[in-house]
Amino acid sequence: MPVHVVADSASKLSNLRATLEPKYAVTSELIGGAKERSSDTDAIVVTADLRVIENITALREMLGRLAHARKRIFLVDQKTRLLAVQAYALGATRVLVNPVNQARLLAELADRDQREVTSKRALYGSSQAAKSGATAIFSMFSAVLAGGPIDVTGAKEAGSRIADSIAEDGLRSWLETVRRHHEGTYQHCLLVAGVAVDFGLNLGLSSKDLERLYSAAMFHDIGKARIPLAILDKPGKLDPRERTLIETHPAAGFEVLKGNPAISQEILDAVRHHHEYLDGSGYPDGLSGASISDIVRILTISDIFSALIESRTYRPTTPRDEAYEILCSMQGKLEKPLLAAFRDVALNR
Ligand SMILES: [Fe+2]
Ligand SMILES: [Fe+2]
Repeated sequence: MPVHVVADSASKLSNLRATLEPKYAVTSELIGGAKERSSDTDAIVVTADLRVIENITALREMLGRLAHARKRIFLVDQKTRLLAVQAYALGATRVLVNPVNQARLLAELADRDQREVTSKRALYGSSQAAKSGATAIFSMFSAVLAGGPIDVTGAKEAGSRIADSIAEDGLRSWLETVRRHHEGTYQHCLLVAGVAVDFGLNLGLSSKDLERLYSAAMFHDIGKARIPLAILDKPGKLDPRERTLIETHPAAGFEVLKGNPAISQEILDAVRHHHEYLDGSGYPDGLSGASISDIVRILTISDIFSALIESRTYRPTTPRDEAYEILCSMQGKLEKPLLAAFRDVALNR
């Protein structure tokens, strides 16, 4: 299989060639410079600074020309990991964070052994991010119960680590790790954060919007700290009194966070309105249509999907395809084009 490598500097290009040439026939292309013919390539490896607009423009053109390549691997720098968002928006099928060793890159390119190598490493990365996420959620819930200050920065940092983990290791290993090692509301909040990030990456959101989205996901159910665990974790159906109590959590979360200077209006809005539906049948304010913001619409889809695929001791986990079907059957409540875009996240990633 020929591999086409692309870089924004001659030194990066020659390093990459040296890594791959023992095993593959390599053609190369310097952004803004010399270009070798690469029409029959099956894989592309890109290493370029994605903060530079000229690089993005050149890569967009190049990836359009080589759209038939099955593997499009981008290497990004540690400091700029969230540029993974940009890489996926350009069509990357895989993003690796530098420094990437030779064995890792070769394994990514080889069909053989690839799954095993990546999944072991991915599970480790996911479990570290999930641990810090669970700690942040625990500390927020404890603070609400004790009436103390909420560590907003800690929660946002944990959200950022989750975003890195999803961008680097994918949603599948995130779901696997979180469902295996975390329970109840912690598991739910971590799943929502992961699903929302992957949905955001899939939609090509900017880094800023992605940050808003994962922060909103981290905080969205903070009002549940005020609901007794016996109700939150009750197996089976809730009675009307319990249901009414559960439905107080979005407004309770809003009350806890409002006035906190580190919480933006968008996040407050998402916490209060993540159970609203487009047809006006949601709660607590019965909002409808245009009064429900994009970030809330994305969060709501991620929230319902995550609740369905949670692992609970008292009921079987709903498979991802069935969970997606349930979302699609919620006539008029969720935005149709967003649901269509969510299909790939729900079923394949
Ligand atoms: Fe909720
Ligand atoms: Fe939720």
